[in-house]
Amino acid sequence: EAFDVVVVGSCMTDLVSQAPRLPKAGETIHGHRFFIGFGGKGANQCIQAARMGVKTTMICKVGKDFFGDNYIQNFKDNDVHTEFVRQTSEAATGAASITVNDAGENAIVIVAGANMLLGKDELQEVLPAIRRAKVLVCQLEINSQTSFQALQMARENKVKTIFNPAPAIPDLDSGFYKVSDVFCCNESEAELLTGSPVSNVDEAHGAAQELLQRGCGAVIITLGPQGCVVLTAKASTATHVPAPVVTPVDTTGAGDSFIGALAFYMARHPAMPLEEMAGRANRVAALSVGAAGTQTSFPFRRDLPDELF
Ligand code: RIB
Ligand code: NA
Repeated sequence: EAFDVVVVGSCMTDLVSQAPRLPKAGETIHGHRFFIGFGGKGANQCIQAARMGVKTTMICKVGKDFFGDNYIQNFKDNDVHTEFVRQTSEAATGAASITVNDAGENAIVIVAGANMLLGKDELQEVLPAIRRAKVLVCQLEINSQTSFQALQMARENKVKTIFNPAPAIPDLDSGFYKVSDVFCCNESEAELLTGSPVSNVDEAHGAAQELLQRGCGAVIITLGPQGCVVLTAKASTATHVPAPVVTPVDTTGAGDSFIGALAFYMARHPAMPLEEMAGRANRVAALSVGAAGTQTSFPFRRDLPDELF
């Protein structure tokens, strides 16, 4: 079976509290709403791509527990192929404790659990699926060696790669840049990776140049309400691609919605300029910001205007 988009990445159960603001160290505050949802950057990205209408499969590991069983059902409900979803009794399904404030901003602690046990052996088993994919997407919520190997396998088989170095680590192995066709991060990740502030469009242009020099095919730095900056190896300067203005309700997973949409365009319209793909992905992600939750806020094809397809 051939898949358009293969995601090798994480699944987390999101435990979300909405509160007026984020608590300080040692502080207890009252929140006004709690809910449990499906999250994890890898799964989020996969589900956004699937909802836009490409054939997707998820390569991941969950626990042999209630949350893991539920997660597999969630993939099925979203038309994500689950043959390569593994369950382990050695660790619990990954979990994320998320606090969202009234401005729609969040703070997140993840306990990756079973995600960390996805390794070489599983990747070998799925090589045939990776080889036939159009696009492979990885993040850093699983063992980083596993992400790196998956990206390498894709590269060796001329499969386009999107790498989202999230959550970012300052000393990211330089090999990751060389196996990324598109290296896509947000402003705080760009700051950590470059060691310079990235708080506006100008600074993002500079950071994109610096990251591109490390060997990737293209760099996208997402900037929340300001959209993103796109720099490809053939262009000499970065392009700022603005996003639609929205009133934020919950920005959790907006970056994942963006990357899922980007994967969709790379699979479906490989010849489209990256700046155009980014502009469309901005519009998809903007919709996700207007509703609470992570995957619950991701639009389906039917929610999106025809001109985006
Ligand atoms: O990017 C948002 C995601 O980060 C959440 O769904 C949470 O699970 C964490 O992984
Ligand atoms: Na949202």
